[in-house]
Parts: sequence; C-alpha cells; structure tokens
Amino acid sequence: MSVDVTWLGHNCWSIRSGNHTILIDPFLSESPTAPKRPEEVAADVILISHGHGDHTGDVVAIAERTGAAVVTNYEISLWLAEKGVKKCVGGNLGGWSKHAFGDVQLTLAHHSSVLPDGTYGGNPAGFLVRTGGKQLYFACDTALFMDMQLIGAAGLDLAVVPIGDLYTMGPDDALQAVKWLQPKHALPCHYDTFPPIAQDGKAWAARVTSATGAKGHAPKPGETIAID
Ligand code: NI
Ligand code: MN
Repeated sequence: MSVDVTWLGHNCWSIRSGNHTILIDPFLSESPTAPKRPEEVAADVILISHGHGDHTGDVVAIAERTGAAVVTNYEISLWLAEKGVKKCVGGNLGGWSKHAFGDVQLTLAHHSSVLPDGTYGGNPAGFLVRTGGKQLYFACDTALFMDMQLIGAAGLDLAVVPIGDLYTMGPDDALQAVKWLQPKHALPCHYDTFPPIAQDGKAWAARVTSATGAKGHAPKPGETIAID
C-alpha cells in the first residue's frame, strides 16, 4: 500500500494512509506559499513539532473544525487544551503513542519552542511515524545531529529534512542528515517560505540522488509524492 505525502509549504505536510489523514504543523493562513486555506484541509490527527507560530499557526481552528486529536509535547498539549482543543495527546521525547493510523514517536530536535504568546513550549521534537507498513521521519526544525544514525537504524522509507538554513540546518548539513538517516526517499522542507530561507530545492534533491543511497524529490507546494 502506498502512503501519499503532500507538501503544503514550510513544514506543513499532509499524509494520506489508507483512509486516515495525518496533518503536520499546519501553517497555512499566514504562509505566503501555502496552497490551501486552513478550512480546506482534512485531518484525523494533527502533529505539532514545537511552539513557534510558523508551526502552531492554524492548529486550533483545524482541530476545532475536524475534531482531530493533536499529538505534541506535554507543555504544548496543556496550552492547546486551554485554547479549547478537546483531544490532545501530550508526550515527550522518545515516547510513542498509538492511533488509528499507526504509531508516532516524538524524536530529538535541536531548536527552541516558545509559544506565540510567550508560554513555555517544552522541548522541540521531530516525528517518526509508522503507518501503512511504512516508516516516515520528519526532522522538523532542527540542527544536524549525529543521533540521526539511530533514527535511521529503524529503516526509513522517507526522511523529510529542513534545508532553509538560518533557523534550521541548511542544504549541506541536510545532505549529511540524509547520509546518516539512509531513507529510501528524501524530501526538503522549511525553505522558500520567506526570503531569508530561500534555497534551490531541486538542486538539493539532485544532490541527494547522486550523493546518497536515497532518491531525492523536491515537490512544489501542493504536490504529492507517493511512498511505496
Ligand atoms: Ni521553529
Ligand atoms: Mn520554523
């Protein structure tokens, strides 16, 4: 069974697995590159990597409209519950949670995580997602770190890594990340949303394909890659 992964710009991803839709870091209404409005996206579960506004953006509105459960760290889950989100699963780094679509682990990320109103947002995370017989890793906002080798040891069908630089790792470190993660497919994210993180995604994907064992892809916002 294939799992379809659609880039909605920045670090926002929609994963379609069987009849489940998993939405990551919905930043749509204020994103210059988002191909969809918050009211147009489906979600059974929403994953929030950390507290920054370019990741938490539209989560409250989408959770309210869809009734989706939000999986995030404990501190952000408390903040979302205060904002009226009914179903929150608050975990912490290393922990797995089980869902109808499969399982998700909060993985290490080297970044920061304050919420838009200044509330402490706990530790930032990435996600390891098991669904439809596939293992998908979303690094989310992070620097390069060598423990990506451990994450890769799980055997990854897909790795999604930031290439924008400045706020996260840039293209060269992201290429090294793919070498350590050893996925079958690799996609870039967190770039071209704003001028300070402009990058050539196609060129990066070509470097991935030529210099690593992975196949690199650089979908445009709104484009879907089938992972099979
Ligand atoms: Ni961030
Ligand atoms: Mn960010």
